[in-house]
Amino acid sequence: MERFKKISIIGTGLIGGSLGLAIKQKGLSEEVLGIDISPLSIEEAVRMKAVDRGSLRIEETKGSELILICTPISDILPALKTLIPFLEPGSIITDVGSVKKEVLKQAEKILPSSVYFIGGHPLAGSEKRGVSFAHADLFKDSLTLLVESKKANAQALERVKNFWEGIGSKVRIVSLDEHEEIVGMISHLPHIVAISLVNSVPRKCFSYVARGWKDSTRIALSPPELWRDICVSNRKQIVKGLNRFIEVCEKVKKIIEKGEKKKIEREFKRAREKKIRYEPMVIAIDGPAGAGKSVVGKEVAKRLGFVYLDTGAMYRAITLKAIEEGIDLEDEKALIEMCRNTDINFESAEDGRIEVLLDGKSLGERIRDKEITRKVFYLARIPEVRERMVELQRKIAEGKSIVAEGRDMTSVVFPQARKFYLDASLQERARRRYRQLLAQNQKVSFEEIKMDIQIRDRKDKKRKVGPLRKVKDALYIDSTRMSIEEVVEKILKSL
Ligand code: DC
Repeated sequence: MERFKKISIIGTGLIGGSLGLAIKQKGLSEEVLGIDISPLSIEEAVRMKAVDRGSLRIEETKGSELILICTPISDILPALKTLIPFLEPGSIITDVGSVKKEVLKQAEKILPSSVYFIGGHPLAGSEKRGVSFAHADLFKDSLTLLVESKKANAQALERVKNFWEGIGSKVRIVSLDEHEEIVGMISHLPHIVAISLVNSVPRKCFSYVARGWKDSTRIALSPPELWRDICVSNRKQIVKGLNRFIEVCEKVKKIIEKGEKKKIEREFKRAREKKIRYEPMVIAIDGPAGAGKSVVGKEVAKRLGFVYLDTGAMYRAITLKAIEEGIDLEDEKALIEMCRNTDINFESAEDGRIEVLLDGKSLGERIRDKEITRKVFYLARIPEVRERMVELQRKIAEGKSIVAEGRDMTSVVFPQARKFYLDASLQERARRRYRQLLAQNQKVSFEEIKMDIQIRDRKDKKRKVGPLRKVKDALYIDSTRMSIEEVVEKILKSL
């Protein structure tokens, strides 16, 4: 990760302050300078250690390799203009404004050619304002859009991308038109809808509001001056979005007016399906061996058109490799070393499954052998091995709709997911596994399987890192007396 000598943050509010905290937490710069027009804001940023030092004087930015403009959008261009005399060749300037057209046009016109401007837009924030609400994790796992304008310098773009990734954000590079259209639809339009909703409800109703209202109107508390400027800057896209929205509202109004039950239900169904299908969503399924995680997980993924990830297969694959290499499974150091030297990757199979590749190869069905099943715990209990797997699992899920099943999916890997804990009695789980193995012509005894499952349950639950446990907000499903279809339906209904 690149470490800068000096980063300047212009505008030490919520975003600027959070960036400062994140930069300092990750050690991305030797020095972080904060510039603001408000002495109070600077004082607070310094007190919170969001910046090393603060100043009202923009000339202090001299010598900065990276300058982050975090002001409201109407102040971005004025800030840029005042910066010009103090810029040095090779400096990179980026912003966090939620509209880009005018700023990019002007920046490319007024800045010297030896200085690079990259338009940035973190899709993170809050209706709150001010550095006091700043925190280092504001951008963690969020998405930042960077604009690849015609004049954007490729190297500078790459460095800004690395910077955002360095503070934990994901980055998507988009064209200018794409940017304005996307944010018009998914950020600006919802804000207009939220304020209009609040403005159209009679005052007397407000003392009865509950969660649904709060969820749909939280962003109506956003700063008015900021949104005034956004609306004006991106008016073309916002009006386009509003026209579509009004058209849909008119249609819905008509069918409600006529009381057309079927059509009303169809509209709700359409929205629900659209949201489930297109909004990246992780469905995480935890539970003990034989509870039906994989059969159910595969079926849920198939019905929704999601990708399916069997994380047990990852631990099995690395175990098989260790056995094949003759590594002593009690020797943690050797196992960690082997894991470190293994290229663990993935590809999407045609049936929607994620295929795990070790050193570029799939290990096939051998990973299901009884010997592997019994020995996985040697690797699954090692924190370094788990860390690597968790990182890969999160990478696999990036931007996808996915059903992920395994022992720590809800508790560790995907805490934001829709969570399910699938369980069944020991007797039933052993019976299922027994029938499965018989069907594969494997010679096994029922009692042996039951004992194996019992031992595995104990090991999975007692493990120090990522043990199997039911988290509070996971839906518990006891499938002992349920068919696969019933479990699948229950999951689909509760999404
Ligand atoms: O689901 P499975 O039986 O294929 O998993 C094999 C083993 O891998 C299981 O006994 C525990 C381990 N495992 C884990 O520790 N964490 C996961 N996310 C998935 C599996």
